[in-house]
Amino acid sequence: MAAKKRVLTGIQPSGIPHIGNILGAIEPSLRLAQNHDGFLFIADLHALTKQPEPKQLQAQIHSVAAAWLALGLNPDQTVFYRQSDVPEVPILAWLLSCQCPLGMLNRAHTFKELTDNKGMPGEDVRHGIYSYPVLMAADILAFDADVVPVGKDQKQHLEITQELARKFNHVYGGGEAILKVPEAKIDEAVMTVPGLDGRKMSKSYDNTIHVFLEDKPLLKRIKQIKTDSTEYGAPLTAAGDTVFELYKLFATEAQTTRLRRQYETGRKNPDENVDDERNYFGWGDAKKALHGVLVERFGDARAEYHRLMDDQGHLDRLLAAGAERARNVARGVLERALRACGIR
Ligand code: TYM
Repeated sequence: MAAKKRVLTGIQPSGIPHIGNILGAIEPSLRLAQNHDGFLFIADLHALTKQPEPKQLQAQIHSVAAAWLALGLNPDQTVFYRQSDVPEVPILAWLLSCQCPLGMLNRAHTFKELTDNKGMPGEDVRHGIYSYPVLMAADILAFDADVVPVGKDQKQHLEITQELARKFNHVYGGGEAILKVPEAKIDEAVMTVPGLDGRKMSKSYDNTIHVFLEDKPLLKRIKQIKTDSTEYGAPLTAAGDTVFELYKLFATEAQTTRLRRQYETGRKNPDENVDDERNYFGWGDAKKALHGVLVERFGDARAEYHRLMDDQGHLDRLLAAGAERARNVARGVLERALRACGIR
């Protein structure tokens, strides 16, 4: 029987994973892990590029671990670990750096965003941010990953990873594949989940929704989603509306069809078009509907998340066991790369 293909993805511990992380990376990778070898990790070294407060970073590492597990990661079937526990990764990153032209990093979106859009002089950009894509390439290449499920914002990083693997193979492999060129898996339906203000949901825009919040604060957050000023009871536009877009991602087809009709008619019960205010449908109702599907979908995971957060020793033990398994694989790949370079 052919060996199983390998799926790998990572998440930065920069806060409780939000809906974008869950739909863009966590759920797709957990689905793939059912019939692939799974390598799922917490990108804690990458998180340092944001200079987090140390105590907060500790808490956030646990929070990402608890979220993965609460959403269904099975640590017996999947190798689950922290990036910083695998020192082979930064060593491989150095080998890749030695092949990486500056031009490739000058074109990286994050660097360009700082220098071109925010006007920061290039020399003020910290090296960790500049070389972020090289470390990410090492995360992936150190495990011979076949498939990497990510959101659309990571597409360029995956292209850089492929290019670095090819360069390395070209220089040291004489045409032989020393490092495996991985494939990105970007699911179109969830490649960019919108946040409260309609832009990509992202911690850096402070527009995220955390599904592990208790009912009331979750509803409060959902109420902050930007909507237009359509009068109560008048038809609402579903196309491009963030509440509708998010609802669609979690609801069944029948639920989505019903919400679409409620938008079109401005009525709670679309078949009763009587002019009775009690039947009016407005943004508040749409937001409650979104809250309903989120609680339905994540209620159990939320309880499990909080249970796991209360037992951090257990999380640490799981991650330590995962680190051992991860290192066993990364060690082999690094040895191969070191031999190819002439260091071994
Ligand atoms: P991070 O931590 O920013 O996000 C984790 C994953 O969530 C996806 N994502 C989204 N998907 C859809 N819509 C959104 N609004 C949204 N926001 C975030 C991201 O695309 C990502 O897949 N560089 C990575 C972490 C990383 C990594 C790796 C990933 C480090 N090494 C190796 C894969 C393989 C990052 O910052 O993701």
